Amino acid sequence: MKKISFLILFIASCWMYSIAQDSLLSNVYNRPFQSLNGEWNYIVDPYENGFYNYRYEPFDQQEYPGKGAFFLNSKPADKTDLVEYDFDQSATLTVPGDWNSQSAYLYYYEGTVWYKTAFDFSKTNQTNRVFLYFGAVNYQADVYLNGVKLGTHIGGFTPFNFDVTDQLQEKDNFLVVKVDNKRKKEGVPTLNTDWWNYGGITRDVKLIETPATFIQDYFIQLNPENKNHLTGYVKLSGGAVGGKTVRIAIPELDINQEFITISEGVALVEIKLKNVEYWSPSTPHLYTVELTAQAEKMVDKIGFRTLKTEGHHILLNDEPVFLKGISIHEERPFSGGRVHSIEDAMQLLTWAKELGCNYVRLAHYPHNEHMVRLADQLGIMVWEENPVYWTISWDNEATYLNAENQLTEVITRDKNRASVLIWSMANETPTSDARNQFLTKLAQHARQLDPTRLISAALEQRDYEGNPSVRTIDDPFVETVDILSFNEYIGWYDGLPEKCREITWKITQDKPVIISEFGAGAKYGVHGDSLTRWSEEYQENLSKETLQMLDKIPQLQGISPWILMDFRSPRRVLPGIQDHWNRKGLISEMGEKKKAFWVLKAYYEGRKVRN
Ligand code: GCU
Repeated sequence: MKKISFLILFIASCWMYSIAQDSLLSNVYNRPFQSLNGEWNYIVDPYENGFYNYRYEPFDQQEYPGKGAFFLNSKPADKTDLVEYDFDQSATLTVPGDWNSQSAYLYYYEGTVWYKTAFDFSKTNQTNRVFLYFGAVNYQADVYLNGVKLGTHIGGFTPFNFDVTDQLQEKDNFLVVKVDNKRKKEGVPTLNTDWWNYGGITRDVKLIETPATFIQDYFIQLNPENKNHLTGYVKLSGGAVGGKTVRIAIPELDINQEFITISEGVALVEIKLKNVEYWSPSTPHLYTVELTAQAEKMVDKIGFRTLKTEGHHILLNDEPVFLKGISIHEERPFSGGRVHSIEDAMQLLTWAKELGCNYVRLAHYPHNEHMVRLADQLGIMVWEENPVYWTISWDNEATYLNAENQLTEVITRDKNRASVLIWSMANETPTSDARNQFLTKLAQHARQLDPTRLISAALEQRDYEGNPSVRTIDDPFVETVDILSFNEYIGWYDGLPEKCREITWKITQDKPVIISEFGAGAKYGVHGDSLTRWSEEYQENLSKETLQMLDKIPQLQGISPWILMDFRSPRRVLPGIQDHWNRKGLISEMGEKKKAFWVLKAYYEGRKVRN
């Protein structure tokens, strides 16, 4: 029965995609593209003077916007003509990259910045289509090509693209992007976060060329109920997509099979396998998968593994696994700013490997695609998180749709990554009926899009039956998630480190438990005794006490201490210690390992899976 239910779920997810994702391209790093990365001119526009006229009406909704509209990139017609901006005479910012770390004037800036670049583009085949792809823009992007509005994207950490086939010209295209990173009550995340709201075009920008009928999306994963059975689909878009042949080849497994699309362009995939080398942290084997349809052939590197829970165990390829993890923010090592490059991603994951990790929690939003593709290669399991953080506007339908869209976009992007095990719906959100409905609906959506992965969230906890020495999870969302996770800061926000010895945890549900955060602040190089706040010794002591406390939880199947590296936060203002940095990193932003790093490393070296 379970096997049939999975197939039904999978077919349902195909339909979800054929409806939900009318354009997001998969596997962009393995498609022909022209990069638009580089130096873009920019204009800081705190009053959005280039977007609204003096009656506060959006220029792009006016029949004759006039030369005040920045998206037109106007130039004076002659010496008498009045134009009060000039992109080409303006300074430049590097794309990809946040603006806060590129200019002292923009260090604290939250507001609108206009970007402009120019480029030529010649299609290799006149019938081809061209898509303009953004890896991420924080937080809202209004995109204009050659003076025509392509659309708006909301959400600072997920990819989006526009079909620009009909707008492109061979020469002198100009692309203008209005980027607004102002925090909003109805936003996702909302007004209050404990990380820096880096603004800008923070990830790669590409022009991607495809045939007229192209492979838009695909999902090729092992059936969790049958480890010799690949299940999934391939979705074509563009032109007549029904009754088309799609070929999937996996040379190393001697697979070469054809499938036929149904009317919506979706081909259901069923492939029987033998002699598979399953993906795992110790054997991160990736297969070259060749997808061919019509005039297009692309490859992807995909690992095959099964994943499920059984009681309080997490089973990877039917073996219990303990997640020896660390939480990570997208803070760039050594220079600060939003991570975007493969080099920065490799630095962070290399430190995680040095720590002895087989798992990372990518907090509190979807990280760049390099992180998950490198995790695939390095054999690091991944928790990815939707930025539903703290006090979200639970009653606002637009907020829910925004959260759902961001979740759809990250699942579309990463659903073929073997390293990704967990989709996290939220972090530390106060319980209420509205919040429970919001998160439950989000979890249902995630399962419809991807029935192969586990759902979690950093849940709420409280004293057990009023006894301050016994803690438990107090969150109705426990009924929905596959993995019980929570953040705890006993010994930092709650008492001193030895308080860990007084606390026991009573988890009544028979599900895997991951402690998604614990930690203490320490400035690298500050030393004192084990009770001196901000000293490395305090952080070291707390780590030891916490690990002993957590080891008593029978269902414990993983931890991701807070956090790999210090990160910028607007909430952390203690002079000489924080200076707008959260100091709970095991490593400073300059790569200096604090004493607590070695405590965790030793723990992971000695940690085995428990029955
Ligand atoms: C919370 C939160 C983190 C925050 C951390 C801290 O648990 O999830 O985003 O940075 O605590 O207080 O340092």
